[in-house]
Amino acid sequence: MQKWSGAAFKAGKSIGVVPTMGALHEAHGSLIKRARQENDLVITTVFVNPAQFGPGEDYEAYPRDFNSDREFCEKEKVDAIFHPSTDEMYANPQTVVKIGKLASTMCGAFRPGHFDGVATVVAKLFNITKSTRAYFGLKDYQQLRIIKQLAVDLNFDLEIIGCPIIRESDGLAFSSRNRYLSEDERRRAVYLNKALKHGWQLYRKGEKKAGKIAIEIRDIISENTGGKIDYAGVYDADSLEEISGDIKENIVIAAAVHIGKTRLIDNVSSYEEALSQKK
Ligand code: PAF
Repeated sequence: MQKWSGAAFKAGKSIGVVPTMGALHEAHGSLIKRARQENDLVITTVFVNPAQFGPGEDYEAYPRDFNSDREFCEKEKVDAIFHPSTDEMYANPQTVVKIGKLASTMCGAFRPGHFDGVATVVAKLFNITKSTRAYFGLKDYQQLRIIKQLAVDLNFDLEIIGCPIIRESDGLAFSSRNRYLSEDERRRAVYLNKALKHGWQLYRKGEKKAGKIAIEIRDIISENTGGKIDYAGVYDADSLEEISGDIKENIVIAAAVHIGKTRLIDNVSSYEEALSQKK
């Protein structure tokens, strides 16, 4: 992969990378399409990264279907797929990337070490693919924020591009984990987005009290999904700290809920609102 990318880089080609863990779906497709528009070459990486799963999480169960991912990439006219083995990626490593405060809230508070694992693999993927631009979905808002910081802190010479959340017609954000949901859980899952949208409408209608919005979101999620909430609230879009008093601007309203055995996350953010207004 490094040879291929190195030759492309020397030939002056721009390279867009879409890092994924496979089980590709429409949201990945939208990232690949965007990378296709903006670069000479597109690489999709497919690697279920053990370093970002905690004990008891779904590393073993995580969907893996490389043949269907390859077909997906061929349809989207991806130039190269990087699909390494775990041994190739992690041969007795002694070095990790450690994320500071940005990893202490939201998902980071419930998945210790998760973002260190993400940052470590993403740093490796950036070095391996020598990309010009890297594309990430806004569904993983905290991940995107952390990767942007990683690129600044470690001087990666590439552009990190955050792309809009892609949703099913009823609002559920596409996720590889949606395939774990039973029919009944799938019906209930839709209330995650409904709750966050409701919170955003309250905010846009002038509600300034973050606590009031958080309570309403939590109520909608608990009553309609019956799931265990990890977090649900209003966060500063930049520091990711939870806002407890008055909201100023630049926020993300986000939540994570366990529906049955499936942990789902979603958010609505000023970042995405600004992207949709630019269109
Ligand atoms: O968002 C994902 O699929 C993963 O966290 C990523 C960025 C590919 C790193 O393993």
